[in-house]
Amino acid sequence: MRDINQFSVTQAVKDSFKTVPGSRFEQLLHGMIQHLHDFTREHNVTHQEWMATLNFLYDCGQISTPERHEFILLSDVLGWSALVDMINTKGGATEGSNLGPFYLDDAPAQPLGTDLAHDRDGVSVLVHGRVTDSLRNPLPGAIVDTWQADGAGTYPIQEQAKGQDKYDLRGKFTCDDQARYYYTTVLPKPYTVPYDGPVGDLLRAGNRHAWRTAHLHYIVRAPGMTSITTEIFFDNTDYIDNDAVFGVRRSLIVKPKPAKDIEALGFALERKPDAVIEFDFVLAPEG
Ligand SMILES: [Fe+2]
Repeated sequence: MRDINQFSVTQAVKDSFKTVPGSRFEQLLHGMIQHLHDFTREHNVTHQEWMATLNFLYDCGQISTPERHEFILLSDVLGWSALVDMINTKGGATEGSNLGPFYLDDAPAQPLGTDLAHDRDGVSVLVHGRVTDSLRNPLPGAIVDTWQADGAGTYPIQEQAKGQDKYDLRGKFTCDDQARYYYTTVLPKPYTVPYDGPVGDLLRAGNRHAWRTAHLHYIVRAPGMTSITTEIFFDNTDYIDNDAVFGVRRSLIVKPKPAKDIEALGFALERKPDAVIEFDFVLAPEG
């Protein structure tokens, strides 16, 4: 490797890794090396720019904690999370969207009809729909796992120091024998992603805001089906067309309607809602 130069170094680095030929690991590693080197040559990256990038990544690591993953946020604001969601959405299934940082996999199971909002302020809304396969066959017993911000744009998990229960405004519902889910809650408000760290500096450097449009989070599962992680958004709300993490998809936007004639649905509800949202989730088979 004495005669290495700015072009031959790329292959030399690939060859230095003794990977299994044709393996997925080798494919991704070699691809990453190739793109990184091509990028550097194409833009004549300077020493200052190289060090600024490494310091930025160092800062992302320094500010990260078990509750704050700055690299996920970086992925989100660069649209990388959205791109991974998009290319991994299965044909015919509900489109995927951001998991975000506030999911708790041990959230409590809740009976259908529960009010997740308790005594919170905000617009009370009935959320209901069905879980089906892509041929619209119902999937009774499917699990609808949801979590959300409150009517002020805050997740209870962020307010534990103020006495809030981190499991508030979240729950796992088991669909009934018609594959229906239904519960009441309050409409969430937009909120900002954390912008007091290096990713915030990046947003400011690019004259970008940190706002996420209002949304409800979901993971939906059923035996034999590929689970989906997604969000529901609301038409004509702030930041719907410039969400900071590129989470919005047209197919995931709903329009809350006034809660009229909901008795006909036959749901036993804890709280009488002001508005109604209907959204069906579609799962594709595993594999
Ligand atoms: Fe969120």
